[in-house]
Amino acid sequence: MTFEDFKIITTASSVPKRVVDNDELSTMMDTSDEWITQRTGIKRRHVAVTETTSSLATEVAEKLLDQSGLTPADIDLIVVATMSPDYLTPSVGAMVQGNIGADDAIAFDIDAACSGFVYGLKVVRQMLKADHQMRAILIGAETLSKLLDWHDRSTAVLFGDGAAGALISNQPRETGSFISEDLATLGKLGKHLTAGQVGVKSPFVDDDVSYSPFFKMNGHRVYGFAVKNVPESINRALARAKLSIDDIDCFVLHQANERIIEKIAETLGAPMSKFPVNINEYGNTSAASEPILLAELIDQHIIKRGDVVALSGFGGGLTVGTMIIKY
Ligand code: ACO
Repeated sequence: MTFEDFKIITTASSVPKRVVDNDELSTMMDTSDEWITQRTGIKRRHVAVTETTSSLATEVAEKLLDQSGLTPADIDLIVVATMSPDYLTPSVGAMVQGNIGADDAIAFDIDAACSGFVYGLKVVRQMLKADHQMRAILIGAETLSKLLDWHDRSTAVLFGDGAAGALISNQPRETGSFISEDLATLGKLGKHLTAGQVGVKSPFVDDDVSYSPFFKMNGHRVYGFAVKNVPESINRALARAKLSIDDIDCFVLHQANERIIEKIAETLGAPMSKFPVNINEYGNTSAASEPILLAELIDQHIIKRGDVVALSGFGGGLTVGTMIIKY
């Protein structure tokens, strides 16, 4: 039998215990609950204290196995989408593989910033096109708090930490989930959002060369990119599948700013009721944001089996990506 498609078996999430609300941030920098709520929709975020990107991702993987009744030996592939790994090497994926004891799985990370989960779905889908039964774990996991300058109000108020993912299995085309996709990378615009510059400590390099580990973002530019490129990407994915906006039951969009989501809904001519939002609770968790929302919506039976779901992300790279699936 040939497998040409994939199916999401189950989803799960894990977020740090420590919650920091806007009022607490207002005691640390010149900002206010009113400004953050009005401009972004964010009320609070979860911040790692003892947790790491790999510990959050490992908890997600353990939940996925528990919920599916599978064992680590059943897993063939682990992909973690992250822009905030514990190390440059080993990858978070390899750490998860070791932590859960999925000794037969190959594991690695991908970095497409906030588009990471959609890019990851594409990678996993292609790798599952095999002639034997394969199961993969795809996780978006971030601890962005370690990349933030906590004195910079233009970025510190926006981001949060968390992880979520899906257990995915390959399927014959007729029983799978994939409908359509559209991914794009605009590397020439990458300078508008950078984080985690890696400094050089070498006897051959002047040690006064400055570098910044922190987020630097041209908020206006990224806002403009998102409200133009996300609707275009969704429309291209719809056109490829010969679907219309009305055929989508639910849009699971990257949670960067509630105003961006409202603008995208307006541009697409779709009601906000189809664009669930949870940014108030988590802030922008980059690659984790779509799977956290997806897992919540499935848990709450808002997304049900058979629903047509458009996942769409945008962010660093700059990258944008849409995947339309039948859950
Ligand atoms: N608290 C209070 N005031 C603030 C804050 C703050 N936290 N931050 C900025 N301000 C001030 C500014 O200094 C400015 O003051 P001024 O008018 O006196 O100069 C004023 O508020 C307005 O600032 P703007 O930057 O114009 O605010 P804007 O409405 O554009 O909102 C924001 C800024 C929220 C960053 C918006 O541009 C945005 O959401 N951009 C998209 C960012 C994004 O989506 N990034 C995610 C990428 S995902 C990834 O890949 C990681």
